Amino acid sequence: MAVLGIRMFGDPILRQRASEVGEITDLHRKLIANMIETMHEAPGVGLAAPQVGVLERIFVYAVDETVGAIINPEIIVHSQEKETDIEGCLSLPGLSYPVERAVSVTIRGLDENGEPVEIDADGLLAVVFQHEFDHLDGVLFIDHLPGDMRKEALRTLRDQALGLTVPSFAPAPEERL
Ligand code: NI
Repeated sequence: MAVLGIRMFGDPILRQRASEVGEITDLHRKLIANMIETMHEAPGVGLAAPQVGVLERIFVYAVDETVGAIINPEIIVHSQEKETDIEGCLSLPGLSYPVERAVSVTIRGLDENGEPVEIDADGLLAVVFQHEFDHLDGVLFIDHLPGDMRKEALRTLRDQALGLTVPSFAPAPEERL
């Protein structure tokens, strides 16, 4: 297994839509094992394939001792009820902002062996599923912020890119998705 490089904000791959996986092969299983190792090493609680430069609809997660991968995920139920929690992202180091998400979701997809999975999630797991699912459509958590907060986030990212500031703090591990 290997720790993979994580693509950072500004890399165009983070803004592209990932493709559905056709046949699941040993290469996918190897990618998933490497993504899990990369997520643990970060450390973080979720990681989507585009974040390691692969435009396929796959993500991994690790919440409360449960580690898994979902291929071709679909969120089939979003609760009406919403909740706001602090989120960060491994591709946007140093940023964390409150994001409003559905409190619970039901997700459906395939595991690394091609077996169908369906999971009812709430709490952090529901946040991770929504955040990682977004990555597969080229959506980043800052896209969900209200205008002023989003502008501040983009300013911070620009200053980092220009080398004017370095990420001065890292979000807590459970806020890195
Ligand atoms: Ni992320």
